[in-house]
Amino acid sequence: MRTPALPFDSSTFRRTLGMFATGITVITARARDGSLIGLTVNSFNSVSLTPPLVVWSLANTSTALAELEACEYYAINVLAADQEALSNLFASKAADRFANVAWEPGLGGAPVLADCCAVFEVRNTLRHPGGDHVMFVGEVERCDRTERAPLIFFNGRYCQLS
Ligand SMILES: Cc1cc2nc3c(=O)[nH]c(=O)nc-3n(C[C@H](O)[C@H](O)[C@H](O)COP(=O)(O)O)c2cc1C
Repeated sequence: MRTPALPFDSSTFRRTLGMFATGITVITARARDGSLIGLTVNSFNSVSLTPPLVVWSLANTSTALAELEACEYYAINVLAADQEALSNLFASKAADRFANVAWEPGLGGAPVLADCCAVFEVRNTLRHPGGDHVMFVGEVERCDRTERAPLIFFNGRYCQLS
């Protein structure tokens, strides 16, 4: 039997969203003072092929909100199956999340993480408020991919393709 329509609690909503399997990305950017920003995000998706647009959303409570709104470019690093530790690191409150992480500078100085599945380097074109998040829509100016298998997130857990 189907559940009744509204109201449903946020835990039901969250657990239902969790049935949509996603990859895991780390969004990275360079702040105005030159410091590095990075956080784990699975709300990434495609928007348009021509022009090449992508979307992801950032919690209004993120410590990185002001700098991510201000930066000209950010990178979307798609994690590989063996990069679960990086996902946990960039979802943590660690002071310097980049201390032991290999990266090289991409467009706008945004850190491009080593050994990912893929990376999109994105111009920070448009932001739109969306409830307790801000939606970021960006134009991809460079993208690279490898043959590495992706890290998958499903039902609140990391998984691998088999
Ligand atoms: C699998 C996974 C997916 C996440 N996806 C998002 C997301 O799409 N947007 C978001 O704002 N936070 C997301 N988070 C939470 C952030 O990574 C986490 O809150 C991070 O510590 C934020 O740090 P900050 O407040 O310094 O930005 C996700 C965390 C995990 C583990």
